[in-house]
Amino acid sequence: MSAAVPHPDAPEIAYRDGELSVEDVALSRIAAAVGTPFYCYSSGAIERQYRRFAAAFAGRAPRLCYSVKANSNLSVIATLARLGSGADVVSEGEFRRALAAGIPGQRIVFSGIGKTEAELAFALEHDAYQINVESRGELEALSAIAQRAGRVAPVAIRVNPDVDARTHHKIATGKKENKFGIDLAHAPDVFVEAAALPGIALKGMAVHIGSQLTALGPFEIAFLRVIELWRALNNRGIKLPRIDFGGGIGIRYRDETPPSIEEYAAVVGHMTQGLDVELAFEPGRYIVGNAGVLVTRVLYVKEGVTRRFVIVDAAMNDLLRPALYDAWHEIGPVKPPVGRGPALAQSVVGPVCETGDAFALDRLLPPFRPGDLTAILSAGAYGAVMSSSYNTRPPTAEVLVRGGDFAVIRERPSYDALLARDRMAPWLAGR
Ligand code: LLP
Repeated sequence: MSAAVPHPDAPEIAYRDGELSVEDVALSRIAAAVGTPFYCYSSGAIERQYRRFAAAFAGRAPRLCYSVKANSNLSVIATLARLGSGADVVSEGEFRRALAAGIPGQRIVFSGIGKTEAELAFALEHDAYQINVESRGELEALSAIAQRAGRVAPVAIRVNPDVDARTHHKIATGKKENKFGIDLAHAPDVFVEAAALPGIALKGMAVHIGSQLTALGPFEIAFLRVIELWRALNNRGIKLPRIDFGGGIGIRYRDETPPSIEEYAAVVGHMTQGLDVELAFEPGRYIVGNAGVLVTRVLYVKEGVTRRFVIVDAAMNDLLRPALYDAWHEIGPVKPPVGRGPALAQSVVGPVCETGDAFALDRLLPPFRPGDLTAILSAGAYGAVMSSSYNTRPPTAEVLVRGGDFAVIRERPSYDALLARDRMAPWLAGR
């Protein structure tokens, strides 16, 4: 049995009757019905994380906008929509997903540094709650678009507080050399400009310094700087009704010790005490990260000269995080083997033709055999959404469990569907 299961943030994913199950459904049952690999999420775990986040801020009535980039499956968003969640989106595609899943525009924050004119117009047309602007150019474009549409754009300006988030460098966003937000030094002028621009209603200030933060310190420094700026603007007569604190709260994948949501809420609560300001948050990973697993089957076991390779049918195209960020995901057997002896150092790798296509190297795991099902844990966030069809592998199916029920919430596309997206150039056709 894996020490990592059950995870404290996802007790719904646990061994029951000797088998890894999600809520009341054994993963082997889903594998038999759906084939492997597949992602499987627990509705209960997603709901509990959302409720826990909301409860931590009870009394402040924060606007929680689930960051759909973490997992944008319509059923996942709809699960949260039913609890009253808003959405944080970064493209028209995500905006459309949030709307389709039942989140009205008035609960959608539109973030991102490179929104096109068409995307900004779409957000206005659908009454976005807030558009987080990240540059002067975008501000001016939005002002023009809003005037043409006869609308007023609700704007927050994202500031870059120049804080080291102490996370993986590829997902740190709050240093001045990062492309995100407007530097603190330039921000006051941009707020002043925005306050005077036609078609713009200045609603707030936004900040997000990175993802998978496992310490409170960087949040505290960033939030202090933002609140200082908020006060300075207030003194100049620019009163911002809300502050959007972004997302970024880390989760435990291995042995990280992220702050609890209650500790995080206490810090934000303390810092904003007495400020007449509405709080908004954009959590992604915290809500869904531990609520999902990627289930894969062992194809072959190969004894190399220095390594025992366990070759599974999932690959980096299904879950990119280990290849891209050297991310650690716990791996456990779906049915812990009996009578096969002690754990062995094994390297769990996928079929893709790249050395980086590995989920674990030299990790002590129960001795796997061909045909075994294994689960890659904490794969609910930035898993399926980052999948691709590299090596023309059909992207993974997704399954949602609720109690004793499960449903395929994204089909694995057929090979015909994959190939049908290509077109033969006319000069090559018919030969
Ligand atoms: N708000 C903004 C403006 C963001 O850029 C992000 C994430 C979030 C909210 C949500 O952050 P979260 O609460 O999930 O940390 N693919 C990477 C993570 C990229 C995060 C991008 N921005 C990974 O797999 O670790």
